[in-house]
Amino acid sequence: MESLKALIQEQEVAIQNFKISNAAELEQYRIQFLGTKGIVKSIFSEMKNVPVEFKKDAGQLLNAFKLLAEEKFAAHAHLQQAKVAAQQEIDNTLPAASLPIGTRHPLKIVENQIVSIFEKIGFAVATGPEVEDDWHNFTSLNMPENHTARDMQDTFYVSQQPDWVLRTHTSSVQARILEKEALPIRVICPGRVYRNETISARAHCFFHQCEGLYVNKNVSFADLKQALYFFVTEMFGADTKVRFRPSYFPFTEPSAEMDISCTVCGGTGCNLCKHTGWVEILGCGMVHPNMLKNFNIDPEVYSGYAFGMGVERITQIKFQINDLRLYSQNDVRFLRQFERL
Ligand code: PHE
Repeated sequence: MESLKALIQEQEVAIQNFKISNAAELEQYRIQFLGTKGIVKSIFSEMKNVPVEFKKDAGQLLNAFKLLAEEKFAAHAHLQQAKVAAQQEIDNTLPAASLPIGTRHPLKIVENQIVSIFEKIGFAVATGPEVEDDWHNFTSLNMPENHTARDMQDTFYVSQQPDWVLRTHTSSVQARILEKEALPIRVICPGRVYRNETISARAHCFFHQCEGLYVNKNVSFADLKQALYFFVTEMFGADTKVRFRPSYFPFTEPSAEMDISCTVCGGTGCNLCKHTGWVEILGCGMVHPNMLKNFNIDPEVYSGYAFGMGVERITQIKFQINDLRLYSQNDVRFLRQFERL
């Protein structure tokens, strides 16, 4: 007992004198006193040498010693937590990692711009179905069966009898609006259209259009020009020049195509304008009297204008995208370039 007491006292002093000021020293302490080969364990193993009559006292002494050793460790345990945190390199002051979010598609960015420009001058948004019947896509638009103008657009037929098609243009929405809305009508119609074309850098089997329609009393070609001038100024800037060329669409008379001065070269000639200085951006005209009649609107009382533009074309001019296929390939390297718009 005496020698056991002496041994314990000696180790108690050692414990008291052990300086713990960081995680490494704490670990050293743990190994030295509390580890599997540590002093507490080795003194406990002395128990087997203690005669039976002293076992109880010896047990108490040992337990008190063990408690002392453990208390000192517990008192410095916070140092160990700091060490764990340091090992995991947790810096609670750092901002959280941001979740990557998607971006708007360039076509949607431009479509939104087109729509909001026309909204400023009183146009309401209208949409229609992508699968259309013959009446809304062709016949009501002054293109009766066997009309040669149907060949202008290579059509995807969903069924032939009755005729269901993937709409070839957003002019079908004009028909639907004239059919059900009260006059006056002033709508802008964005949407996807389909044509049976071989896919290449310059053509695709689907693309997007924005159609405009205004029908009221006394609507003139001057009103059409005014609306389109406003659009060009807002979209491409006040310096952009505009010209109209006579053209043909079955549902407008007179019809025109509108060009703007090339926004890339400013008119001196480049690839975008094919060295002409001008780029075509839309078709337009005064709504054909036959079309108004198809919807029981008296062309002697009412007149209207319509225009239709390709969203891909406007996007190509704005962002100089020279391959139509990029729009639908879902390549994030392409799409990420529009992140901040
Ligand atoms: N629908 C025509 C096209 O797809 C464009 C257009 C719309 C022309 C409205 C005139 C008026 O080519």
